[in-house]
Amino acid sequence: MLEHFFSPASVAVVGASRQPGKVGHDVLKNMMSYGYQGQIYPINPAATEILGIKVYPNLTSIPGPVDLAVICVPAPSVIQVVEECAARKIDSIVVITAGFKEVGPEGARLERELKDAISRYGIRMIGPNCVGLIDTASGVNASFAAGMPLKGNIGFFSQSGALCVAILDWSLAEDIGFSKFVSLGNKTDISEIEMLLSLSEDPETKVILGYLEGINDGLAFMDVAREVSKKKPVILIKSGTTASGAKAASSHTGALAGSDAAFQAAFRQSGVIRAHSINDLFNYALAFAYQPLPKGPNIAIITNSGGPGIIAADACDRSNLILTSLNKETVDKLRKILPPIASFYNPVDIIGDAGAERYLNTLAIIQADDQVDAILVLLTPTAMVDVAETARAVAGLAKQSPKPVFASFLGKKRVEEGRKILLREGIPHYNYPEDAIAAMNSMYRQRRWVDEPARTHLCYLADRDKVWQIFDRVRDENRNQLIEAEAREVLQAYGFKVPVNVLARTSKEAVAAANSIGYPVVMKIVSPQIIHKSDVGGVILGVKTAKEVEKAFFEITSRARARAPQAPILGVMVQEMIMGGKEVILGLSKDPQFGTLIMFGLGGVYVEVLKDVSFRVVPLAREDAHEMVREIRSFPLLRGVRGEQPVDIEAVEETLLIMSQLAQDFPEIVEADVNPLVARPRGEGTIAVDARFTLSR
Ligand code: COA
Repeated sequence: MLEHFFSPASVAVVGASRQPGKVGHDVLKNMMSYGYQGQIYPINPAATEILGIKVYPNLTSIPGPVDLAVICVPAPSVIQVVEECAARKIDSIVVITAGFKEVGPEGARLERELKDAISRYGIRMIGPNCVGLIDTASGVNASFAAGMPLKGNIGFFSQSGALCVAILDWSLAEDIGFSKFVSLGNKTDISEIEMLLSLSEDPETKVILGYLEGINDGLAFMDVAREVSKKKPVILIKSGTTASGAKAASSHTGALAGSDAAFQAAFRQSGVIRAHSINDLFNYALAFAYQPLPKGPNIAIITNSGGPGIIAADACDRSNLILTSLNKETVDKLRKILPPIASFYNPVDIIGDAGAERYLNTLAIIQADDQVDAILVLLTPTAMVDVAETARAVAGLAKQSPKPVFASFLGKKRVEEGRKILLREGIPHYNYPEDAIAAMNSMYRQRRWVDEPARTHLCYLADRDKVWQIFDRVRDENRNQLIEAEAREVLQAYGFKVPVNVLARTSKEAVAAANSIGYPVVMKIVSPQIIHKSDVGGVILGVKTAKEVEKAFFEITSRARARAPQAPILGVMVQEMIMGGKEVILGLSKDPQFGTLIMFGLGGVYVEVLKDVSFRVVPLAREDAHEMVREIRSFPLLRGVRGEQPVDIEAVEETLLIMSQLAQDFPEIVEADVNPLVARPRGEGTIAVDARFTLSR
């Protein structure tokens, strides 16, 4: 895929400037400087020779075929050049030129014209507004970046040109190699989706790294990322994580679902490893580029000092990794070779006077332990240790085993040489043990993702006709919000249990209703215009007697009249009071890039303050629901604390799957909260006490 971009037989540089320092000049120079074996055709009507090679006045005058055109002419001339490309049957172009949608409406218009032109001619394009692309295998450097990355196995794409340049610089300082390096610019044609597909098929690429600001088609991205990430790790950093989706939201879910929640969910569901900082991006890239995936979560730490060992162990505790218990034979073997004051358990402290040999012997013993899946070697530069020799010894032995080894030599000056040796020999080195653990954890996550069987998507029976009718009626009445009774009917149509309810138009009817339901009851105002009922004092809980019912009826209706005088009041709902169990919230909201999101959290009025919620993109697999419930910090409360009975967690998971089905069946639902959904003790299911639905207009 994208072969003409990465291994073209011939490349034209359109706008190859005579003047060093100009973009077109630097692109030409880069194309000529790194071993590219194909034909290079500089195009410039004002020149005959640049950098010692023949220049052509235009594309038409080039004698042979051209696979790739790199365009570096000012924005107003780009479309003309595209026309020339079409005439020459050039099907791949890189447009480095800036001045398109990033500069405002005029640029956006030009960009639309450019898009129309390339689709008319079937031309594929990277850019515009990009730094260009590099392929270290073919020697193509069609960019104006300063320098060429080393050959390696990381494929990188970025929406930010500046980040490309910075990462290239970092890679040169750290001796990290890349297979491909692509600045995507405005992604008018080729986007992250094609890059994922192309890098996934590229034999030179082992790890896929990317920087994104936005995604054009969220669901298509998820489909592709899900496939690709099973083959190769996909590590992405996503910026612009503001809660834009939160504005103007009328539900809890809407308020909590920022765009970042959607990205977080989408990345999780499609196996993308998310880097939260450039530092993480580098650290993870290093681990995946150099080491094989661990078989499991069990790690062993070798250290020559206590403190760093404990820091690493603490970090391990906060991750999904396990500080494993070493086999008895391992401990016995360690006892034989280590001084008596060493620690033979994990973290294995080989103490401050350890030299390279002790590191080597210890590592050999630990590598042989079948309880260990990955090893972290820590070193503090004591006076006794020869850092470089230790680095060489560790790296030499690590190479002979399929178990991944990571290192963190603490300090700066004295460990620098060791660090360089380790990196050169393919051992990921981290300045801090926590970074090493984070990288190891990301590798273990990838291991789980790769090994996980396909997720299960279930289909639930439901009375869809009923919901159609309700939604039709709501639309006919020119509303977009369901009243509580309608919301309840929708939920019932999808198999939710709801409390017994009776609508009372008079206090007398309310008393009769309460008598038949049984005390205590809950009473709530019913008005199509009052969505947040508690806010107008429209809810009274625990009404215990007929007298109280009468009083509550008058209080609720008069408060509603006072606080929402415009709202028509249909009566008061008398409802069975659900006692016991735990309140949770389920929600639906729309994300512009990924479609419908589902939210789960502990319910009640504090949900927006605590923000202890999890999100997934619809449709949900059974495993997604399982993870969502366990992802919230307060999950232990659902499992029961201090002798409490656990709630019916399976039933809660099922409600999430049913909500996902509802969202798929009725994409016109733009927001919904089921709050609270009372999760009863295990075996007793759930009851949806209250719900709100907003439909698209
Ligand atoms: N065909 C061929 N050559 C052409 C041409 C055409 N249609 N139009 C102009 N040229 C030649 C010019 O003669 C000039 O050569 P010279 O310097 O030898 O005279 C060369 O192309 C460059 O044209 P010029 O008008 O001098 O433009 P420039 O070099 O100042 O700027 C860009 C051109 C593309 C670099 C500039 O418009 C731009 O977009 N810069 C920003 C790039 C960027 O930042 N990208 C995003 C990174 S994240």
